[in-house]
Amino acid sequence: MKRILCIGAGYVGGPSMVVIAEKCPHHRITVVDCNPDKIAQWRSDSLPIYEPGLDEAVKRVRDRNLFFSIDVEKGIKESEIIFVSVNTPTKNFGVGSGQAADLQYWEKTARQIVENAESPKIIVEKSTVPVKTAQAMEEILKMNQNGKKMHVISNPEFLAEGTAMNDLEHPDRVLIGSHESEEAIRARQELVDIYAHWVPRERILTSNIWSSELAKLASNAFLAQRISSINSFSALCEKTGADVTEVARAVGMDSRIGARFLAAGIGFGGSCFKKDILNLVYLCHHYGLPDVARYWEEVVRINEFQKERFVLNMIQSMFNTLSGKRICLFGFAFKANTGDTRESPAISIARRLLEENAHVVITDPKALKNARDDLAEIKGAIDFVEDPYAAACGCDAIAVMTEWEIYRNLDYEEVFSSMRKPAYLFDGRNILDHRELQEIGYSVYPIGKPPMVPL
Ligand code: UDX
Ligand code: ADP
Repeated sequence: MKRILCIGAGYVGGPSMVVIAEKCPHHRITVVDCNPDKIAQWRSDSLPIYEPGLDEAVKRVRDRNLFFSIDVEKGIKESEIIFVSVNTPTKNFGVGSGQAADLQYWEKTARQIVENAESPKIIVEKSTVPVKTAQAMEEILKMNQNGKKMHVISNPEFLAEGTAMNDLEHPDRVLIGSHESEEAIRARQELVDIYAHWVPRERILTSNIWSSELAKLASNAFLAQRISSINSFSALCEKTGADVTEVARAVGMDSRIGARFLAAGIGFGGSCFKKDILNLVYLCHHYGLPDVARYWEEVVRINEFQKERFVLNMIQSMFNTLSGKRICLFGFAFKANTGDTRESPAISIARRLLEENAHVVITDPKALKNARDDLAEIKGAIDFVEDPYAAACGCDAIAVMTEWEIYRNLDYEEVFSSMRKPAYLFDGRNILDHRELQEIGYSVYPIGKPPMVPL
């Protein structure tokens, strides 16, 4: 039996420990967080995050071999393996502001480990961290006066929200990086043995520690780059009369390119992509590679361009003014099947619409609480309405922000009859049947396809 601790009970720490607990019933896992409300929620029937399949899995393992606690110090003392999945937001002050990662939570955690460790520990970096975080961590851990050995291992998490449970249970790969000394490789092997309970050995990759840290940034940068690539083509499609879905299908059937992550939309959101690319840009500058930095910076710039383009299209098509018009946002989460709104394109689009004096009505099946928090400081007319029919009633336009399944299946005749005319539908995710909407009487504006005015 191993005693495992996870510091940070967020989107990464929570689900990944639930899966380890489920797959390794003989290990005892404790998840700690400095936020007592969050821990209280993990212990209750209403978990702090929405993730399909998570509620049921938590019920199976909680208080069996998975425990939630606020006692970080006790957790450190008792455990042999410590996963660290505290947040690493982008710095918003001082040197590196707007690009570098803010490692204050990491540093605090490292210091807590040093102060409380009474036996050797394996420390596992789980949250996305800038390359060389392990080095910083090691510097702090060296201060441990008891001379207890600490091994820092990099084990980046590749789960995507909305599919986290499946991603964790059937990962494409698990990456574990360490130093190459005999002792470090032994520590790394302990982690390999944990994953080997359910992940085929050939999918468990081991590497040096810097490769592991950098591979995580590189994976996210490649994924984000695909989205910016197809979004840049969506702009060109709208000008030329090409259809971005047809272009993506043709491109994606090239087996060297592949079909996934080519859905044009309003731009990528989520806590990782922008943050990681900005980290990468910072790193490139730091190592004297301004050309490489500029290359990746463009991926983020195209993402901003895509959001702004969407708003400008709305303004232009609605007679160059949104003043006093009611616009209903279908969805606020950064993607379907999550309540998470971090970096959601809907946030900046809502702000821009409010700047144009529009009245914004927001509906979302899981993200309304976060949406309220995100827009708390923003002045303007905003309503939050749970039922999509009630939200769209009396509106001039609907703009689809999130590809929730429920929006595909609404009765759009009924919605149309309750809206002001002309009724506009801006499908920011290309999920609706545009021909059918046009026949109902909507003016339809998809992404990367010619607009469709009522027949
Ligand atoms: C991402 C990575 O996929 C994951 O491996 C990493 O661990 C964390 O970051 P996540 O941000 O949870 O995961 O979701 P993801 O599915 O990657 O979507 C990110 C954003 O890209 C969303 O806003 C999504 O709507 C958008 N997206 C995705 C597109 O616009 N088009 C696509 O084709 C795919
Ligand atoms: P991620 O998406 O990377 O999981 P989250 O923000 O969802 O990020 O989760 C990170 C969690 O880490 C938060 O719940 C936060 O309260 C917690 N946290 C941050 N610093 C510490 C710390 N020093 N000790 C314990 N928990 C911490």
